[in-house]
Amino acid sequence: MKPLIIALALVLAAPLPAYAHPRAPRDLRELAHQSGIRIGTAVDIAALRGEADYRKVLNREFTHVTAENAMKWESVEPQRGVYTWADADTLVDNARRNGQRVRGHTLVWHNQLPAWLTAGVADGTIGNDELRSILRDHITTEVRRYKGKIRAWDVVNEVVEEDGTMRKTIWLDRLGPGYIADAFRWAHRADPQAKLFINDYNLEWNAPKIETTLALVKDLQARGVPIHGAGFQGHLGIQYDYPGDWANVMRRFADLGLEIAVTELDARMVLPVTEEKLETQATYYSRALTDCLSVAACKELTVWGFTDRHSWVPGWFDGQGSACLFDENLAKKPAYRALLAVRSPR
Ligand code: G3I
Repeated sequence: MKPLIIALALVLAAPLPAYAHPRAPRDLRELAHQSGIRIGTAVDIAALRGEADYRKVLNREFTHVTAENAMKWESVEPQRGVYTWADADTLVDNARRNGQRVRGHTLVWHNQLPAWLTAGVADGTIGNDELRSILRDHITTEVRRYKGKIRAWDVVNEVVEEDGTMRKTIWLDRLGPGYIADAFRWAHRADPQAKLFINDYNLEWNAPKIETTLALVKDLQARGVPIHGAGFQGHLGIQYDYPGDWANVMRRFADLGLEIAVTELDARMVLPVTEEKLETQATYYSRALTDCLSVAACKELTVWGFTDRHSWVPGWFDGQGSACLFDENLAKKPAYRALLAVRSPR
């Protein structure tokens, strides 16, 4: 009897290896708690309001949310001075009720700008000084409205071109490169607690974009600009190789003291869907999570929509789709199960 008790005591006293959890996670919410990163999704507000099954999965699985479109400029100020916050409010309220933190997306971008703004710039009725104060007011108004309710903001989105030059937008063209520092400063003034991110696609692997973005961050930091994070969108396609150096790229940004987030992960495929493609897709998702977990500064992994029922992919890439973790009927795909199987090294 006695040796048995001693053996039992030894087993119980032995520390678990750092990666071992008492049991495999049941869902993404549990995975997030066990691994210490937030697992998020972009949210389609019409679906959140109108589809009970969508809402159920969203609130069961995710601890972080991003508005897919509802916080973009054309959504919140479709006419000059006329603000429409209802959709963004719906997301923020739902998040509060369901223990989800929120990523604000996005303050400065070249897409989904309201027509009054782009037309005014094009026809010269909005001059450069006025444009600068319009941008300042937009950032200040939106960030203030959600002060204390947004964990992280994508302050500037996609500001670097594929060839490593600064993206040619109305912002660069009319305001000069200083608009980026201004945007971060204005956002910080409006909510000093929010983490302020630069966000981009292909930053996982594109060398010119990586180098320019790193140099930009260093320059901003040297000038005391409040920038706190780098977001990797992570729009992957399984017809291309997985970006195998991604964890190292994350580390280079983390070494600058930034928080890292995967902000818009998905892995599309050329249709039709096959079992084999779904298995390949599963490895893309699990590798992305593994990469994030391998970098201590990576605190969030957000997917760009969780169901193929509402995905931007088919509308943008002819003949491609099935990019999400759940299918159109909200059945779990192999990618979902692959995420649950990833063991956290933390
Ligand atoms: O709201 C209008 C609606 O009134 C109209 O009837 C309908 C007809 O086409 O269009 C609706 O607008 C669409 C909008 O999404 C809202 O659903 C636009 O056409 C459509 O182009 C727009 O696409 C969004 C895209 O950004 C625009 O650039 C996608 O949903 C959204 O997923 C996508 O998200 C971006 C991130 O913000 C930044 N990173 C890349 C990512 C994927 O492109």
